[in-house]
Amino acid sequence: AKTKVVVTRQLIDEAQQILDEKKGELEIVQWQSEKPCERSWLLENAKGATGILVMLSDKVDEKLLEAAGSQLKVIASFSVGTDHVDRDALKSRNIRLGYTPTCLTDAVADLTIMLILMAQRRGGESIAKVINGEWPQMPWHPLLMTGPQIGGSTVGFLGFGRIAQATLKRLLPFGIKKAIYLTSRPGQPAKEDHFGLVKQATIPVEPATSADQLAKESDVVIVGCALTPSTKHLVSTDFFGKMKKLAVIVNIARGPIIDTDALVKALDEEQIFGAALDVIENEPNIQANHPILKQPRCVLVPHIGSATIETREQMATESVKNLLAGLNGDAMVNEVEL
Ligand code: GLV
Ligand code: GLV
Repeated sequence: AKTKVVVTRQLIDEAQQILDEKKGELEIVQWQSEKPCERSWLLENAKGATGILVMLSDKVDEKLLEAAGSQLKVIASFSVGTDHVDRDALKSRNIRLGYTPTCLTDAVADLTIMLILMAQRRGGESIAKVINGEWPQMPWHPLLMTGPQIGGSTVGFLGFGRIAQATLKRLLPFGIKKAIYLTSRPGQPAKEDHFGLVKQATIPVEPATSADQLAKESDVVIVGCALTPSTKHLVSTDFFGKMKKLAVIVNIARGPIIDTDALVKALDEEQIFGAALDVIENEPNIQANHPILKQPRCVLVPHIGSATIETREQMATESVKNLLAGLNGDAMVNEVEL
């Protein structure tokens, strides 16, 4: 019998082609619709699969692994984040996990810069006013729509992996003053120095000893850590209470790291200057009457961090390569150490 693989999306050109070329050896069961794969379809079709290629919207838990059966060898996730995957469950069954942490770094770092500038320079608020026809009532004025300047800012990174460091690299030419970062080892230098900036940046790049310290010192806070039980609501009332009044916060990681209610309150009470979010709790189910959408100082975009044509093509191709490597017992492009 052919080896069965399940893929929860139609893939882009090259990736689909690499997969289709394996049709001689593989039974490929693929979700056909443009909508996210339905859980019931996945549970049903996983039965007998040796490999499953999933999106970040597909939960990989005991139930799915159980439904698949003991022959399952590999999960290949089309994402850098793996919070949708129960790693312990994979580890205990000796199932390998592939992901795409490197090819999307530049795209997400680019979007992070967009969001920082949107928050500091009031991009969302400005566009909304013009579209709403308010410009005639707000002629040019020296203080019209002013916000804090990026040059001279201290930038605090919650999480200091590839994306954060690629963002720092982009921020240096803007003339930021200092970078501080908090990892899972507060006060200790980052384990990996992806672009040689931790040791050799032209400005101070220092580990923070606590989230409090980072909140107090930063003019820009960038949330770029993984979502884990210890980072859920890491940014909440306490954190906002310690931030500067002219500081902004950007989230390009996972929604639940920021407590949305606390953010709405911080913006309402003008405890902080603004926010720009690529992700939010309970996405994509944000209705038009959600209080966050009533905040002129909050920009929200629909989880588009890695959404460049080039990057999405690469993520697709790498996911397929990881899937095939997992089936064959070969080295993956990127594998999570479980
Ligand atoms: C996007 O959020 C990803 O994890 O790839
Ligand atoms: C990443 O967060 C690191 O510590 O290098």
